[in-house]
Amino acid sequence: MNIAVIGIGYWGPNLVRNFNQMYDVNVSYLCDLNQESLTRMKKIYSFAKTTQDYREILKDPSVNAVAIATPASSHYKIAKDALEAGKHVLLEKPMAESAKECEDLIRIAEENDLTLQIDHTYIYTGAVRKIKELLDNNELGETLYFDSVRVNLGLFQHDVNVIWDLAPHDLSIMDYLLGNNAVAVSASGLSCFNSNLESLAYITIYFASGRIAHFHLNWLSPVKIRRILIGGSKKMLVFDDLEASEKIKVYDKGVSIQNGDVDGIYKTLVQYRTGDMWAPQIDQTEALKYECRHFIDCIETKSRPMTDGRMGLRVVKLLKAINTSILNDGRKVYLSSGGNNELSSNILVRNILSEDGSSVGYFREDSQMETVMVSKPAGPELNGIRMDN
Ligand SMILES: NC(=O)c1ccc[n+]([C@@H]2O[C@H](COP(=O)([O-])OP(=O)(O)OC[C@H]3O[C@@H](n4cnc5c(N)ncnc54)[C@H](O)[C@@H]3O)[C@@H](O)[C@H]2O)c1
Repeated sequence: MNIAVIGIGYWGPNLVRNFNQMYDVNVSYLCDLNQESLTRMKKIYSFAKTTQDYREILKDPSVNAVAIATPASSHYKIAKDALEAGKHVLLEKPMAESAKECEDLIRIAEENDLTLQIDHTYIYTGAVRKIKELLDNNELGETLYFDSVRVNLGLFQHDVNVIWDLAPHDLSIMDYLLGNNAVAVSASGLSCFNSNLESLAYITIYFASGRIAHFHLNWLSPVKIRRILIGGSKKMLVFDDLEASEKIKVYDKGVSIQNGDVDGIYKTLVQYRTGDMWAPQIDQTEALKYECRHFIDCIETKSRPMTDGRMGLRVVKLLKAINTSILNDGRKVYLSSGGNNELSSNILVRNILSEDGSSVGYFREDSQMETVMVSKPAGPELNGIRMDN
């Protein structure tokens, strides 16, 4: 299998290294606009051809697949050209800049029977795969909440905010572990400097089940934290990605409520259970190695990748919804058709609330937020914004 890597800045060389270690893969091209990066990589991978123009690669029939690690704004164009040229695509996160672009890429890949995998790397870590196994085996009981903190100092990006930079990791983990039944999002964020790009954000995602997930993202934290808590009705789990050996800890802790009816609230008996903690063994294989192998296997067996275009699309929809909520002072943004997290409407609906919280009317706005119309109350289920694409 001949593969080309397009974009060899910070992340691309990791893809090159992993594909190069595979016995059945030949890294046949390296591509970057920056000649210095090409010269540097050519010293290590002298056998690979180099080019500054990815279209040269797409014209070469010997190339079977491309891995694209360029900035997010270029993902759609390069991936679309590659799929239309008949190449399988491993595309960096976030998949594209809009749901429409993601849908286009999914359609072209499906029509041409090509593998389209999105590099949501965390899904391929031994830790996340172990958590999935524990949840699938009902080890924690019913999932009550998902709480994620991903903060550190920098790296400030010049083209995306902290949400588009960091949240794809956590949103893809949530999607993989809890399923794709998010119904709404509310978020607040802050740009600490003179820019319109948020450097910290607090995000809540609401599920059809009534449960919530919360995310704290921050480029301006003096300490680095990479931690996810999952509360279950039977046990609770902490995933600390900075722990060297015991990344996952499962706590046999919980609360049981007895006589908990509303009238008898003062008689309610709260029982705390504090049992053992255990740290399961996890596979230490480098996530990207596992992922690159998975990509090649999916091409060869025509199977659907764990992080396929549809997961990439769901993550992009959530990212868009989060940005919209921040722009609207943290109001809830509803994803269309609930559980499937698929958007169908181009209409934004925003209730106007009276002081006592009752709805007195609503705005309908088109996707450019230009047309404003006041009408009768929209009903409590639309007490927020219906998201466009
Ligand atoms: N999966 C992960 O864990 C992970 C980690 C870091 C970055 N990323 C993703 O990887 C992508 C790249 O991020 P980065 O940090 O490596 O950025 P970067 O700026 O360091 O590298 C991007 C490279 O792409 C090149 N490039 C841009 N347009 C190009 C074009 N049209 N043709 C060829 N080359 C082009 C640039 O010259 C640059 O060298 C982003 O989408 C980012 O989100 C993913």
